[in-house]
Amino acid sequence: MKLHARKIAALLSAVLAASFVGTALVQAQPATPAPDNGFDVEQLFAGTCGFCHSDGGRAAGRGPQLMNSPRDDDFIRDRIKNGKSGAMPAFGAAFSDAQIDQIIKYIRALKPREG
Ligand code: HEC
Repeated sequence: MKLHARKIAALLSAVLAASFVGTALVQAQPATPAPDNGFDVEQLFAGTCGFCHSDGGRAAGRGPQLMNSPRDDDFIRDRIKNGKSGAMPAFGAAFSDAQIDQIIKYIRALKPREG
C-alpha cells in the first residue's frame, strides 16, 4: 500500500515535470515578428490552400500542383481572387492584393523538398 502511494507520487511529479518543461519550451519561443503584420504566407498556404494543393503546393491533390506552374501571374492572381466554380473557392474577399502578390511569390519560389 505504501509502495503504491509512492508510485503515484513519482508518477505525479513526472507529469508535473513534463508539463513544466512543455511550458518552458513554449515560453522559450523567440517572438520573431512575421513580415507584413503577421501575414505568414507559408502558414497561410498550409492552412487555407493545402487542403487541395498538397505538400505546400508542390504536389497535386484535389487541385493541381502549383510548383513550376506554366501559368502567368495574371492567371494565378485571377484564380486566387475568383476561384473556379465547382472546383476552387474565391479568395478575393479574404486577402488584399498585396497578400495575393505574396502568395504568387510563394508559389513561384516553390522548390522540391530536400531529402
Ligand atoms: C477546395 C479545394 C481548393 C482550395 C481550398 C484551393 N484550391 Fe486552388 N485549385 C483547386 C482546383 C480544383 C483547381 C483547378 C481549377 C481548374 O479546374 O482550373 C485550383 C487551381 C488553382 C490555381 C491555378 C493552377 C493552374 O495551373 O490552373 C492556383 C494558382 C490555385 N489554385 C491557388 C490556390 C491558392 C493560393 C489557394 C489558397 C488561398 C487555393 N488554391 C485553395 C482547388 C482548391
